[in-house]
Amino acid sequence: MTKRTGLVLTLLILSAMLLLCGCGKDADNKRNPAAGGGKEQAGALDINALTAQWAESPHSNILLAPAQRDGCVVCHDGGAFAENQTEVAAIERDFFVSIDCRACHTGQGAELMAAGRVDIPTAENVAGGTGALCMFCHNSRKAPKLDDEQRTAPHYSSQADLVSGSGGLRLEGFDYKNTDAHVKLENSCVDCHLTQTAEGFASHSFEFDNVEAACARCHQQITDENLPAAGDYDGDGDKEGFQTEVEGLLTLLQEAVTAELAGGSFASDHGKIVFKDQEGTELAEVPDELYQAAYNYLLVSSDGSLGIHNPALTVQLLQQSYKALTGQNVPQAEIK
Ligand code: HEC
Ligand code: HEC
Ligand code: HEC
Ligand code: HEC
Ligand code: HEC
Repeated sequence: MTKRTGLVLTLLILSAMLLLCGCGKDADNKRNPAAGGGKEQAGALDINALTAQWAESPHSNILLAPAQRDGCVVCHDGGAFAENQTEVAAIERDFFVSIDCRACHTGQGAELMAAGRVDIPTAENVAGGTGALCMFCHNSRKAPKLDDEQRTAPHYSSQADLVSGSGGLRLEGFDYKNTDAHVKLENSCVDCHLTQTAEGFASHSFEFDNVEAACARCHQQITDENLPAAGDYDGDGDKEGFQTEVEGLLTLLQEAVTAELAGGSFASDHGKIVFKDQEGTELAEVPDELYQAAYNYLLVSSDGSLGIHNPALTVQLLQQSYKALTGQNVPQAEIK
């Protein structure tokens, strides 16, 4: 009860604030053609429609349980994020809140959008425009090391590791490449995920849902995000959609790990990758190549874009971990 009332109140106050201030440094310019902004028609922004989108979004409907721990709360509670609080005890209320308007449009959120740069565990001072905001939370939380005895797992939010081109467990001596056109988009995540809605404002569903707006200026013929791949990266004899190729590579890598564990399994569990043998007994240690393959598998699968965030790096991480584990390239595949 307290939780919900608090949330609704905050929401109303913030919506009013945003309406009054016009939200953001160049909002006035955008809405006023006389000021030389990009939009031709001046008109009131439909704040109700925008707020309704947020209310349906994953940032509104979040799992609050992870917020209950120090070190977790800063990304899992909108108010803590705005104030950059990493300790639960420092929060002056007895309930947790979702990733609400205040999280992104006040305090730390607003500062990150203005700065356009952010440090993430795998890289410092990453340029992301307004997307620097998203990168603060959507990263794997720790830079991986091949000889890490903890066998640390990437957090469920590994996107920025790939989008910035800095993530993944890499082979020494192999020259990894990024798809620069994707990595260097001015506002990174925001350019693809907050495209303009039919009502004319930045989408607040946060889901990727507009291929035309996000991709077509560079990929003219594109009809959906599963763009036809330039090569048969998984070696199954067909050049399929790029995301289908990445799915194929993920399956191959998972099978290779399972074979190496003689029918065992691996999974992300409380921040670690736990490896089990065929009987389900946890293994005390595994070779580095096995950790590398499992880590990169989890990194790419939890990223959720099936390679679109950084096509070149994604294919290379999967193909090279396969090679390190099995001693051979992915059979019949085009190696990137
Ligand atoms: C304060 C931290 C924080 C910030 C900033 C943030 N997010 Fe999130 N985001 C989350 C959390 C936490 C979840 C997961 C909610 C849940 O499921 O409990 C999430 C979920 C999502 C999802 C849904 C993922 C899925 O698996 O369905 C998308 C998409 C997303 N965020 C995109 C973005 C974008 C784009 C930005 C920048 C505009 C952004 N996020 C900024 C914390 C954040
Ligand atoms: C750097 C920011 C950050 C920190 C710190 C962080 N998380 Fe997360 N976490 C996220 C984001 C963002 C997501 C959403 C990922 C997605 O859906 O793509 C997430 C997702 C999760 C999920 C899955 C939620 C769901 O709806 O499926 C769990 C569970 C979780 N985190 C637990 C934790 C715990 C426990 C801690 C502390 C030990 C923690 N997180 C620390 C950013 C963070
Ligand atoms: C080049 C455009 C592009 C950029 C830049 C981009 N994304 Fe994505 N993102 C996508 C596409 C396409 C998908 C896959 C959507 C699908 O297959 O349904 C996706 C998927 C996701 C997902 C998984 C959603 C789900 O439902 O599981 C999350 C979370 C996400 N992106 C967050 C981010 C974050 C955070 C950033 C910035 C660090 C970012 N994206 C940058 C295009 C982009
Ligand atoms: C996860 C982060 C996030 C959350 C939560 C969020 N926004 Fe935004 N919002 C953004 C980003 C990013 C932009 C685009 C900023 C830019 O391009 O200057 C934006 C833009 C806007 C704009 C300008 C839209 C336009 O097209 O000019 C308004 C108004 C706005 N947000 C209101 C809200 C309100 C109200 C809420 C809560 C219901 C909210 N936002 C929640 C990230 C967020
Ligand atoms: C700013 C321009 C730009 C935008 C926007 C853009 N791309 Fe790309 N994309 C490129 C370039 C350039 C390449 C590299 C082409 C190459 O590897 O020869 C590329 C490569 C790719 C690849 C790899 C193809 C392969 O087989 O190697 C895929 C898949 C892809 N893009 C999908 C998308 C999707 C989906 C979107 C929208 C979510 C998108 N791109 C947005 C410019 C862009």
